[in-house]
Amino acid sequence: MNAQPRRVEHLQTDKGSVPVYTTAVVEQPWDTYTSVDHATWATLFKRQREILVGRAAREFIENQQKFGMAPDAIPKFEDLNRVLRKATGWELIGVEGLLPELTFFDHLANRRFPVTWWIRKPEQIDYISEPDLFHDLFGHVPLLLNPVFADYMQAYGCGGVKAHGIGPEALVNLTRLYWYTVEFGLIKQDDGLRIYGSGIVSSKGESIYCLESAAPNRLGFDLNRIMRTRYRIDTYQKTYFVIDSYEQLMRATEPDFTPIYAELAVQESIPAGHVLAGDKVYNRGTGEGWAQDGDV
Ligand code: PHE
Ligand code: CO
Repeated sequence: MNAQPRRVEHLQTDKGSVPVYTTAVVEQPWDTYTSVDHATWATLFKRQREILVGRAAREFIENQQKFGMAPDAIPKFEDLNRVLRKATGWELIGVEGLLPELTFFDHLANRRFPVTWWIRKPEQIDYISEPDLFHDLFGHVPLLLNPVFADYMQAYGCGGVKAHGIGPEALVNLTRLYWYTVEFGLIKQDDGLRIYGSGIVSSKGESIYCLESAAPNRLGFDLNRIMRTRYRIDTYQKTYFVIDSYEQLMRATEPDFTPIYAELAVQESIPAGHVLAGDKVYNRGTGEGWAQDGDV
């Protein structure tokens, strides 16, 4: 057996039955990790690091090294926090799993990044539908060492608290932005397109697909456009958005979104795979293998 999360209950929603966890901050129970857990970390770590050479953004790999993340054992949050606090003032906190939106936003707004403490089971090594320790630590934590990206994440948290007060439609718009940047973003670097999105770097298949497949669209970052664009939760993305720099992300999201939400409220959403006349196109996807339905 490996170390298991403490689920509180299951909630029936329009996306099916989703696990609900306690919102409490928990101390990482590092001593309860089994040899199976550490081996899962090692396997995933080595495999992804190999795939990510020449694919991940330069600073992603550099920062993992600065943290001293290595395959031999699951990192201790405490050790990572010593590096992180000093560099950007962020701090990792342990949680049981996905948090309610407002709780999540509040943590980010205070430069606390929630990390799921448990790691997937061996039979989930290639795919797991909810974030676990590997996704959160390997995928999200490295860029928190980047000062601009660190500020972006906090600004997003503050924006989330605000959008929560405005209403569910504003939250939908903001969530799309998170999805297409923090989770599935690409960045244009000197030597070509690179990955910075956590959902991609933690996925074996998608880290190759997003850059090398002819099927998906790769389009230039455009704030309003992204906030109108639906996405996929159970297949690879049909569209990836490319930023020029983290500064571009920061600058584009600085303005007050309140009037933008009002504008977006009267516009149609855009299907995940569409290319529009105004898009900056790096690759127009062939659409091969796309499921016809299921955009959320
Ligand atoms: N500027 C946004 C607002 O006023 C907040 C935000 C910042 C949202 C960064 C996302 C990312 O709501
Ligand atoms: Co994530």
